[in-house]
Amino acid sequence: MTTRVLLLPADPAQADALAAAVHERAPEVDLVAWQRTLDDAALADIDVVLGWRFPSGLAGRLPALRWVCSMAAGVDKLLVADLAPGVMVSRVVDPEQALGIAQYVALMALRHARALPLYEAQQQARAWHRAAATAAHPHVVVLGWGEIGQAVARALEALGFEVEGWRRSTGAPLPQVLGRGAIVVNALPLTAETAGRLDARAFAAMPRGAYLINVARGGHVVEADLIEAVRSGQLAGAALDVQAHEPLPADDPLWSVHGITITPHIAAQSSLDTVAEQFVAGLRCVQRGEPPPHRVDRARGY
Ligand code: OXD
Repeated sequence: MTTRVLLLPADPAQADALAAAVHERAPEVDLVAWQRTLDDAALADIDVVLGWRFPSGLAGRLPALRWVCSMAAGVDKLLVADLAPGVMVSRVVDPEQALGIAQYVALMALRHARALPLYEAQQQARAWHRAAATAAHPHVVVLGWGEIGQAVARALEALGFEVEGWRRSTGAPLPQVLGRGAIVVNALPLTAETAGRLDARAFAAMPRGAYLINVARGGHVVEADLIEAVRSGQLAGAALDVQAHEPLPADDPLWSVHGITITPHIAAQSSLDTVAEQFVAGLRCVQRGEPPPHRVDRARGY
């Protein structure tokens, strides 16, 4: 029987390129690009979803669904309440994506540790002032010790930073660990336990003048508390590649807080070739009756 795969890329404009990359490796599968006009009859025999997020109400309309393969490292947008309990969920694990995110973190950590915003402001004012500078060795706490957290740690250690990784399940109490972080990098999965963990209490636990880099999900951060912490000087600032509302609305207060750098979720995504490669490898496992690689524990959320 032909496998019918529903494609749900983050950007619908990617659907054709994703379909071509999958077809090249698995010409026999029947690929359906998601459109709002698909009716229940068209969805009735979808066995597999390859995608980034479920549009609201869609998961409950897929009675034959057996497997969801996430194109993203974070699966929070696919673990929706109406996903039937028996459906397997797995994700693509791309070392190139982890490296890209590590590069982003290194960029923002160095920019902060070596005071680049100060020299950019001086250049605007045509002011040539030197402050004595030596190599920086700030203590960095990396929240989330999966593939991405560990890739971040390797990159930072190579640059002379001291790195301490933290896992929610086995780590010391969060405020204690945050208290050591001159720079805190968030690479946690977004789950019911981690949502909103970076709040006023967490910021108060960080040393005065600490810096936050968020490469995970906007939902980890209570953004109003972050704005207050930066405006009060408790935090020196933050680099936010992810925000609670994406795209970030033009009138969002985050845009204009001095010390906060906003980027539009560009730290790194997996390439479509890697997604297709790993998806087809997983598909072959599922067709043999085996679980796909990088299976997600649905109860844990990652
Ligand atoms: C991901 C992302 O989770 O791009 O992979 O945010």
